[in-house]
Amino acid sequence: MRILAIETSCDETSLAIIETDGKQLTVYSHIILSQIDLHRQYGGVFPSLAKREHSRNLVPLLERAAQDPGIFNFQFSISKEISNDQKEKIEKTLEREPELLEQFLDKIVEWPKPKLDAIAVTHGPGLEPALWTGINLAKALSALWDLPVIPVDHMEGHIASTQLSGDENSKLNSKFQTENGKNFLEFDIGNLEFPAVALLVSGGHTELVLMKDWGQYQILGRTLDDAAGEAFDKAARVLDLSYPGGPEISKLANRARQSGLSSPFPLTRPMLNSDDLQFSFSGIKTSVKVQTDRLGELNAEQKAGIAREFEEAVVDTLVAKSETALDETGAQELLVAGGVSANRFLRERLEDTFGLKRIRISPPSLSGDNALMIALAAYRRAEYAPELILNDPAPLAANGQLSLEEPRRINKQVQDPDS
Ligand code: KG4
Ligand code: ZN
Repeated sequence: MRILAIETSCDETSLAIIETDGKQLTVYSHIILSQIDLHRQYGGVFPSLAKREHSRNLVPLLERAAQDPGIFNFQFSISKEISNDQKEKIEKTLEREPELLEQFLDKIVEWPKPKLDAIAVTHGPGLEPALWTGINLAKALSALWDLPVIPVDHMEGHIASTQLSGDENSKLNSKFQTENGKNFLEFDIGNLEFPAVALLVSGGHTELVLMKDWGQYQILGRTLDDAAGEAFDKAARVLDLSYPGGPEISKLANRARQSGLSSPFPLTRPMLNSDDLQFSFSGIKTSVKVQTDRLGELNAEQKAGIAREFEEAVVDTLVAKSETALDETGAQELLVAGGVSANRFLRERLEDTFGLKRIRISPPSLSGDNALMIALAAYRRAEYAPELILNDPAPLAANGQLSLEEPRRINKQVQDPDS
C-alpha cells in the first residue's frame, strides 16, 4: 500500500510518502519542518501561528516530497485538466486556507495523478486549527486525485513508530530525514507482541495504554494535570533555559551526573506511592519554582544539579508506573513513544529496568511529531478497520480531544443540547 501522510497537529509540518505491506517499509520521502524557532519567543506553541505556518508551508513541502519519480511520474504524463466540479470542491474545501488554496491551484492541480493508494492525515488529538489545515489539504488532494483518506489518531501514530525500534533501524536514524526529502530507504517493521502497554510521553500527553491489538486500546492511567514534556518545559523556564525545555534540562542533567553535581534540594517523586496508574507533574514544577526562588540567583552548578534532580524525579515516576502497568496487565512488551522518549536518561533507565527484549522505544528521530508514524498507523487502520478508508472524506473533522479509546470515531462528538 502506498500512502502519502500529513501531520499538522502541533508545531511540526510533516509529510511522508511510503510503501508498506506491514512487514517491509520503503520510505520514498519524509520531511519534518519544525516551527520551534518561531514559537520560542512565546515560550510555547502559539496555535494561530502554528496554523498559519502549516497553511503556508504544506504546498512547498509537497513539491519537495514529490521529487520522487517512482510515485509522481512527471516525465511520462501530460498534466491534466480538472473539471469545474472538482475545482469548486477544492475551493470550498480550502476556503478557510486562502494561502494554501492559492498555492494549490497554482501548482498542485497541474500535477498528474500520483501512484498512491491513500492519503493519511492526523485528525486529533492536537491543536484544532492546526489539525484542520492538514485535514483540508487531505480532502482537497482526495478530490483532485480521487483517492481515499485514512484518518489517524496522533497517539496511535506515536505507538506505530515503535515498530521501527530495532537495532538495525536505530542505526539508520540519521537518514530518516534528508535535505531534499528523498531517500528510498528500506526498513524491517517489527511485530508488536500483544498485549502490550504503551507509555506515551509528549508535550501534550502522558498516558499508559493497554493495547490488546491494533485498534484495541484501554487507557490505564494518564496525567491529572501537566504532561511530562510540559513539566520539562515549565521547569526549564524556571531555570531560564530556552524552549523546548526537555532537551535543555537533559543536557544539564547529564553534565551534572558526569561531574557528580547534586541538587541543593530534593524533589519528591510525584504520585509514586499512589495506588493507581495516574501521573501528576504540576506539583514538582511548582516545587522547583518555590525552592529556586528561595535560593535567589543560581550558579551554573546549582542549575545543573536541579535539572538532574528534576529529570530523575520524573523518570523515576515514569519507570515505576510502567513497571506496575506491566505487572498488573501481564503485558509482554512496553512500547515507549512521544517527544520525551528521546530523553537519554529515560531510555537508559527503561533498558536497565526491563531489558532490551521487553521494550520498544521509538527511534530518537521519530520520537517527536512526524508523518512517517502517521503513515505506519494508517496502514494498520486500513487493516483493522477498513471502514476508516474514507472514499468520501467530507464527514472527517478535527478533534483536539480525540481519545485512543474511540479509534473509529472520525468526527467530533457533539454534546446533545437536551442532555
Ligand atoms: O511528541 P512531541 O514532539 O510533541 C507533542 O505532541 O507534544 O513532544 C514534545 C515534548 C516537549 O515538551 C519537549 O520538551 C519534550 O517533548 N522533549 C523532551 C526531550 N526532547 C523533547 N523531554 C525530555 N528530554 C528530551 N530529550
Ligand atoms: Zn506528539
